[in-house]
Amino acid sequence: MTTATEPAAVIVLAAGAGTRMRSRTPKILHTLGGISMIGHALNTARSINPHHLVAVVRHQRDIVAAHILDHDPEVLIADQDEIPGTGRAAECGLTTLAEAGTPATSGTVVVTYGDVPLLTGDLLAQLVTEHEHQGNAVTVLSAVVEDPTGYGRILRSPDGSEVTGIVEHKDADEAQRSIREINSGIYAFDAGVLASALQEVSTENAQGEKYLTDVLQIARADGGRVAAVITEDHWQVEGANDRVQLAALGKELNRRTVENAMRAGTTVIDPDTTWIDATVTLAEDTTVLPGTQLHGATQIGRGAVVGPDTTLTDVIIGEDATVTRTHGRGAQIAEGATVGPYSYLRPGTVLGAGGKIGAFYETKNVTIGAGSKLSHLGYAGDADIGENTNIGCGNITANYDGQAKHRTVIGDHVRTSSNTVFVAPVEVADGAYTGAGAIIRKDVPPGALAITVAPQRNMEGWVKRKRPGTGSAEAAEQATQAQTDQSAGE
Ligand code: UD1
Ligand code: CA
Repeated sequence: MTTATEPAAVIVLAAGAGTRMRSRTPKILHTLGGISMIGHALNTARSINPHHLVAVVRHQRDIVAAHILDHDPEVLIADQDEIPGTGRAAECGLTTLAEAGTPATSGTVVVTYGDVPLLTGDLLAQLVTEHEHQGNAVTVLSAVVEDPTGYGRILRSPDGSEVTGIVEHKDADEAQRSIREINSGIYAFDAGVLASALQEVSTENAQGEKYLTDVLQIARADGGRVAAVITEDHWQVEGANDRVQLAALGKELNRRTVENAMRAGTTVIDPDTTWIDATVTLAEDTTVLPGTQLHGATQIGRGAVVGPDTTLTDVIIGEDATVTRTHGRGAQIAEGATVGPYSYLRPGTVLGAGGKIGAFYETKNVTIGAGSKLSHLGYAGDADIGENTNIGCGNITANYDGQAKHRTVIGDHVRTSSNTVFVAPVEVADGAYTGAGAIIRKDVPPGALAITVAPQRNMEGWVKRKRPGTGSAEAAEQATQAQTDQSAGE
């Protein structure tokens, strides 16, 4: 994504209202592929290395500006005033650059939109490169589409070789409306031409707006060369105005992300049911099984197998680990470890190499050492578990006393029997064992066996006395009779 020269600035227009989203959240903060629309736009803009990156805001200004600065603290925020239109927005961007002491007086100024999330840095770089190589005053990114309704149309000379201007749908006549080459709204401008032409742009049009598109005619009238770069990839110039378009763009983005992952060495069994955020990292020779969603800063190591039906957010998985039918967030799974099926990993779960979190286990804020296994049915929260320890079926850390959380510490080579409850804070030392159903309230010293249940007492004939006439009583009677007959026959 290198351009001939570094653009003087990219101005991202993001002042629009986005009412068709019908949302309390500003339109451009809605996400696809795990990144907000404006986040995608800023990433693309940043990738061509502009000297300055400006975002023009107005609608829900404070929320939008905070989000932009959170995403990229170096962005200059420009406030659009009450004069409407894309031309005014660009002008406000230039004013902010000048006020910051870094006016864009020469070189290339690129204008993009905050709601066109699939535009790539490669295409933007191509636009800038062609603009500069051809020595243009303005180069517009255009596309030929099936249904151009609503878009500005690219006007050309009779032989089609020259771009003469852009007419907005609302201002176009019948003949112009039949043109299928549309304005994407993305341009490369000569900085000087843009600044001077904008001063001439009026609001005398069907919408009473200051149109950025008018700059083309003005630049041409002043003797500048105006041209278009036509993209075949219509997705890259498509905006999302409502949630239907957002979903369509999100699906296409995902298709591209999954395809890129496959080309980079990930086996994806079913691309249609696999969702991978743009922020996820997958090593070569990873396998993603159907129905899997990978979000946020998730990283998957070489040889690891994830899925089916697994949703992971910010989970780091080591080499050759397997994660089956699992829901996880903020967890780390070391190399060779196994998780699932039906495990719920909550933030702070750290599973060591070769370890196991098995079926129907919930974990939170727990460090599990290498080779340790929590195989079936339980809860481990606020705990440190050593290495090569086996936690029996149905073990629970009772970490919450109703007011505060407490830690359970379990050492290396510990063996806990089924249904052990650890009443935290409590510590089980290295090599200790617990008996079935033990309720561990006191620390267990190294190598001890902790048992807490009373010795078993069998109350003979209890069922016959207390549950007479039941199936149990009858079965017991028959079994007793059979034993008596057998001993009589001996
Ligand atoms: C604009 C173009 C049109 C093009 C279309 C592509 C003009 C006059 N028209 O249409 O030729 O086909 O984009 O989508 O430029 N914005 C501001 N401030 C404003 C108005 C808009 O920042 O005052 C921003 C919006 O947030 C949005 C972008 O500019 O990101 C485009 O605005 P929108 O109203 O969707 O485009 P149109 O003007 O209809
Ligand atoms: Ca639009």
